[in-house]
Amino acid sequence: MVDQKYFTLNTGARIPAVGMGCWMGAPGAFDLADGMVMALKTGYRHFDTASMYGNEDVVGEKIRESGIPREEIFVTTKLPNQDHADVEGSFDRSLKKLGLDYIDLYLMHWPQGSAHFVDTWKSMEKLLETRKGKVRAIGISNFSVKTLNELLPQCKVIPAVNQIESHPFLPDWDVVELCKKHNILVTAYTPLGQANSPILKDPDVMIVAEETHASPGQVALSWNVQRGVGVLPKSTNPTRALQNLQLITLTDKQMERINNISKDPKRYGRLNYVAYNSATETVMGASIDELGWEDTRFYKAD
Ligand code: A2P
Repeated sequence: MVDQKYFTLNTGARIPAVGMGCWMGAPGAFDLADGMVMALKTGYRHFDTASMYGNEDVVGEKIRESGIPREEIFVTTKLPNQDHADVEGSFDRSLKKLGLDYIDLYLMHWPQGSAHFVDTWKSMEKLLETRKGKVRAIGISNFSVKTLNELLPQCKVIPAVNQIESHPFLPDWDVVELCKKHNILVTAYTPLGQANSPILKDPDVMIVAEETHASPGQVALSWNVQRGVGVLPKSTNPTRALQNLQLITLTDKQMERINNISKDPKRYGRLNYVAYNSATETVMGASIDELGWEDTRFYKAD
């Protein structure tokens, strides 16, 4: 079994630094059932799903069937945008679909939704009392410096996690620094840059991969974890799934090499287009300005 690295949340709970991202490119189970069985066997103990992924039932079922003690597994799910005004109802529906006794981490999936995110957060804070024991930590996702600065002064409970897109082409240092200052763990979705990722062919990533006898994917993930960011890669391939759990240690010089990649405008930008509507330049109905994404650039290959 792989010796995994853990981070400690501001609640005191431990969270594996590498989790399996459970978005499979389309809502519904897709081929997730087999992927879950493989991941659990490979050693994954952290699963990141969401109501909007439409697969909480499969995630929960495979965890239950695995026979692995529940306390050894960390489960995250997320509040969908349309339920911001019905946090308790939505939480109950997620818990029921998962079929588990509790959720380790419940995230507001996006700041935009059917209520203002400050009010949504207050409802999430209440969950810690009304659903005591059923939710262990609450957090946010896709929050920028702008939206964090609006939310944080209103918080009674500081979010445990902010999950954002992050990889060597989008280090988002400002968000990472602000979260560190407030003891909020940043976790990264799309940490490898999705299928056919330019990151995995990047010359600097390749140099470090050669130097460390690791794969480019391992370099990208290890870089994020080494700077204190958790990662949620997905792979349905057992060899790559195992690789992604096996982090390496980079030297300062190697970290610096990866840190510098995104200073090149040709190697900078978002790689997750799933939620982006290029015709309206909105992300799940919110403008880039509302989201406070200073980095509006989506990566485009030449
Ligand atoms: P596969 O499932 O065939 O391994 P992200 O997590 O950033 O969305 O990226 C997921 C994509 O990266 C998938 O296409 C996955 O394909 C691929 N992938 C996952 N792990 C690795 C790895 N270690 N090396 C290369 N590609 C990987």
